[in-house]
Amino acid sequence: MKALLTGRQETGSPTSRRVYIRTYGCQMNVYDSERMAELLAPLGYARTEVPEAADLIVLNTCHIREKAAEKVYSDLGRLVPLQTSARRAGRRVRFVVAGCVAQAEGAEIRRRRPEVDIVVGPQTYHRLPELLARADRANAKATICTDFPAERKFDELPSRSHPGPAAFLSVQEGCDRFCTFCVVPYTRGAEYSRPVADVVREAESLVRQGARELCLLGQNVNAYHGPDPNGREISLAGLLRELARIDGVWRLRYTTSHPANMTEELIRAHGDLEALMPYLHLPVQSGSDRVLRAMNRAHTAESFRATVRALRGARPDLALSSDFIVGFPGETESDFEATLQLVEDTGFAAAYSFRYSRRPGTPAAVLTHQVPEPEKARRLSILQARLAEQQHSFNRGFLNATVPVLFERRGRRPGQLAGRSPWMHAVHADGDEALLGTLQPVRVTRAGPHGLAGELANHSEVAAG
Ligand code: SAH
Ligand code: SF4
Ligand code: F3S
Repeated sequence: MKALLTGRQETGSPTSRRVYIRTYGCQMNVYDSERMAELLAPLGYARTEVPEAADLIVLNTCHIREKAAEKVYSDLGRLVPLQTSARRAGRRVRFVVAGCVAQAEGAEIRRRRPEVDIVVGPQTYHRLPELLARADRANAKATICTDFPAERKFDELPSRSHPGPAAFLSVQEGCDRFCTFCVVPYTRGAEYSRPVADVVREAESLVRQGARELCLLGQNVNAYHGPDPNGREISLAGLLRELARIDGVWRLRYTTSHPANMTEELIRAHGDLEALMPYLHLPVQSGSDRVLRAMNRAHTAESFRATVRALRGARPDLALSSDFIVGFPGETESDFEATLQLVEDTGFAAAYSFRYSRRPGTPAAVLTHQVPEPEKARRLSILQARLAEQQHSFNRGFLNATVPVLFERRGRRPGQLAGRSPWMHAVHADGDEALLGTLQPVRVTRAGPHGLAGELANHSEVAAG
């Protein structure tokens, strides 16, 4: 039945309704939004980028920092009036709040915004068709569905459709690490790894439809340990090896990893798995052991440095990115300097950095010695300036080099294509659309702070990677 319904969508039968999905937060939410769209397609919903044209508006939300969570309410404030204008035109617009704010705040969302029809958590969105049907039938007001159900979401979802050349694939969900600043263990629940056979099946389906690069996702992806068909547990390194065997998988990546789960086996895989790209996002958060302990990070600055050395030993051209938090409660000037020192010693190709945001219900929220906002802002701007310099200088190192680029989409200018280098640079070059989904050598002629631009080159010129 499931296959039949998806088949209907694939043969392009007319769709009468439109869904607008706005995604906040991390790549797991991007993946979940794609899956929600696939789930709604058999009900006749085509995806639209225009909220005014939608019959169903889904906000797939993020709770990680206060700003992210509050953004949802301000966006709802702007979007909800569409209900009134649609009603005047004889249409009904339904609102769904999904994702981590839905999970964390549940009924509170309805209290603040009674116009919301459905609140659905990240582990229950596979029930959306049933929740929508219920809302239609009873003309009922809100349904709140935020449990962690016994049935597995992944077993209930339809097969994948229309991936791009680079596709996300969730392999692990949830987190058991409980860093003291973080909401994820509460919003996404306990760690769960999908069985190897399921992941391989989804990967094969993506590749059949043209995906060439797979990015494996998990909140703590390198803690992956899924059963193989013989019931043996295999690690992320083992899973990567399985996926690299699939014909048509050219590139593999994974995110986000925890430094304490970078096993020797996984580090080795960076050296000997050709498809595994030389780029790794490895959040460190701070360079101060005192702060790392208070964060319950389970790694030290030195163990992080040792992991980086081992990774670069296995794969000398590995580019690293990371996440940083400044102004964690009790962070002193010398703790902050230790972070700057770690940045200096490591050299990052890219990074995300944030002011500490107090999240209700997390242990750090009630710590004394909260750092004043202006001080957080001062530290953040110093850190970001240094990280931006490192990123730009990393990019400049590629000037005149020829790099292999997997073209993923059209660029902004007519005739321009956009894709990624092995080191995750965004790369633009002029080229024919027929090159989308292919790997092409590009000679880099410009290296900006955020990406590279170049021109198509001969296949014989391509650099390693
Ligand atoms: N699982 C990943 C990332 C989770 S969230 C990990 O283990 O690192 C992404 C990033 O958001 C984190 O790495 C952290 O830098 C940041 N973050 C999480 N909670 C935060 C908070 N309360 N305040 C500021 N930044 C936060
Ligand atoms: Fe959050 Fe820490 Fe888990 Fe990452 S490892 S998701 S930061 S609790
Ligand atoms: Fe945000 Fe949830 Fe991802 S809180 S970062 S959307 S796991």
